[in-house]
Amino acid sequence: MSEPGVQEHFTRAADRYVARAGRGLLGWLRRRERAVLAGLLAPGPEDSVLDAGCGAGYDAGWLLPRAREVIGVDVSAAMLAEAERRGESVTLMDLAELDLGRRFDKVLCAGALEFCESPARVIGRLAAHLEPHGRLLLLVPSRTLGGRVYRAYHRSHGVPVRLFDSDQLDAWLRQAGLEVRVVVDVTPISFVVCAEPRARV
Ligand SMILES: C[S@@+](CC[C@H](N)C(=O)[O-])C[C@H]1O[C@@H](n2cnc3c(N)ncnc32)[C@H](O)[C@@H]1O
Repeated sequence: MSEPGVQEHFTRAADRYVARAGRGLLGWLRRRERAVLAGLLAPGPEDSVLDAGCGAGYDAGWLLPRAREVIGVDVSAAMLAEAERRGESVTLMDLAELDLGRRFDKVLCAGALEFCESPARVIGRLAAHLEPHGRLLLLVPSRTLGGRVYRAYHRSHGVPVRLFDSDQLDAWLRQAGLEVRVVVDVTPISFVVCAEPRARV
C-alpha cells in the first residue's frame, strides 16, 4: 500500500504534473535523473518495460521510442489517465500487490518507492516481474540534506516520504534474489540503484 494521503496528493497534481516536472530547478534535476536512468536501463527495440509507479507518464517520452512495449502501473487513476494520453498502456494497481501474470525485460521504479508503506514488499513484487536476464532500476531519495528537504516539502503537503541508503536497498534486493550492479548518486536529492537477478552472477 501507499502511505495515507499519497493517492489523493497525486490525483490532485495529475493534470499539471508533467508540465511542472519540466520547469526550473525541478526540471534540471529531473533531466539529470533521466539521463542516468536512460543510460542504465538502456531499453532496446525488443525490450518490454514495466514503468512501476509511472505517474503521469513523464518517462513515456524517452521509453516509448526505444522499447517494444511500455506498461505503466500506478495507484492513482488520474495519473494513469495522463500516462495513457502520453502513449503508455496502463494498469491501476498497488505496487505492494503487483501481479500482472508476466515478466519484463526491464523494470523502472522512479520516484515511487518512497511513498510505499513497505518498500521491501514492493521490491519483492518488482523482482517477481523481472525476466531472468532482466534489469531493475530504482530511483529513490537519499538520506542527505537534499533528501530531507524533499521529504519536508512532501510532509508540508501531508504526504509521508521515506529516505533510503544503498545498504538498506542492497539488503532488500538480495532478499528478492537480485544483485546490485551499480549505485549512482544522481542529484543532491536522489540516487539510482541498478540490480539484476543473482542467478546471472
Ligand atoms: C513522484 S510520482 C513519480 C511518477 C513517475 N515515475 C515519474 O518519474 O514522474 C510517484 C507516483 O507513485 C505512485 N505511487 C505511490 N505509491 C504507490 C503504490 N503503492 N502503488 C502504485 N503507485 C504508487 C503515485 O500515485 C505517483 O503517481
